[in-house]
Amino acid sequence: MSKPAVPFPPEDELYSNAWAKDIFKGKVVFCTGGAGTICSGQVRALVSLGANAAILGRREANTKAVAAEIAKVRPGSKVIGFGCDVRDHNSLVSTVEATVKELGKIDFLICGAAGNFLSTIEGLSSNAFKTVIDIDLLGSYNTVKACLPELRKTKGRIIFVSATFHYTGTALQAHVGAAKAGIDALSHTLALELGPAGITSNIIAPGAIANTEGMERLAPKNMIPDDIKENPAKLNPLGRWGTVSEVADSTIFLFSEAGRYVNGVTLVVDGGSWRNSNAI
Ligand code: HXC
Repeated sequence: MSKPAVPFPPEDELYSNAWAKDIFKGKVVFCTGGAGTICSGQVRALVSLGANAAILGRREANTKAVAAEIAKVRPGSKVIGFGCDVRDHNSLVSTVEATVKELGKIDFLICGAAGNFLSTIEGLSSNAFKTVIDIDLLGSYNTVKACLPELRKTKGRIIFVSATFHYTGTALQAHVGAAKAGIDALSHTLALELGPAGITSNIIAPGAIANTEGMERLAPKNMIPDDIKENPAKLNPLGRWGTVSEVADSTIFLFSEAGRYVNGVTLVVDGGSWRNSNAI
């Protein structure tokens, strides 16, 4: 088995001490992009608190290896890794079927699969733009459509993992900004359309989260201006970048009983950074 691309944080950094053990006992999570650093952190926290999970990723061997690692956080847990490209609706439908066969149902959906790279608009071919729209936006739609029959049965909850790029506009992110804006619109619509069925739809928008693939890819050290190179996070209102556990805490809240009346919101987890246009 191949090793996860990014090492997991230690178990005592999974989430804060705000949560009671076993609050998600009997719940099932279905998460696309589940082998990535942020989403695997979300799922690992939920599994630690009692849930079972299916995680989906394009690289099957890697996704299965990450699932096996996540399962270690709670002895007796069931965590399954599936190879699945969210651009392929049929593949998602069969993965939902396999999940329900193995785990019985789906209570919580995390749409986290995302493609990203830095590019000027000139460097972005039509296919490159379409590829990110297809993974992020069409992929989120495909995932919701495939899971919806199950979510209706459980009065489930949906979280889309979005971003803050598009609130103000971000250079080199035309493709991702457009995709994430679409995801936000999708979530807001579903909150209204599915609310009467008891299903909630919310967004988590992480900012700069330390030690993630996204940060390594999007904030490479050679692109950080010299005057803030020493501590680029100092421009963040809280003076530091976020942690995977802080995204996990917000996820736990939205899926917990405490979040039952929260629907149609975006929970920005960025230390307030997006309000300061100079910060990352
Ligand atoms: C310009 C690029 C490019 C680049 C790919 N393309 N990389 N164009 N600059 N750096 C173009 C290709 O040339 C091609 O267009 C088209 O995109 C499709 O590329 P493929 O490699 O064929 O597609 P695919 O194998 O499907 O891969 C898609 C991918 C993916 C989007 C490039 O590999 C990817 O992004 N992986 C990274 C996943 C990731 O890190 N996700 C976490 C994101 S975190 P042509 O015209 O040549 O056919 C995040 C939050 C960050 O987003 C928050 C930080 C603050």
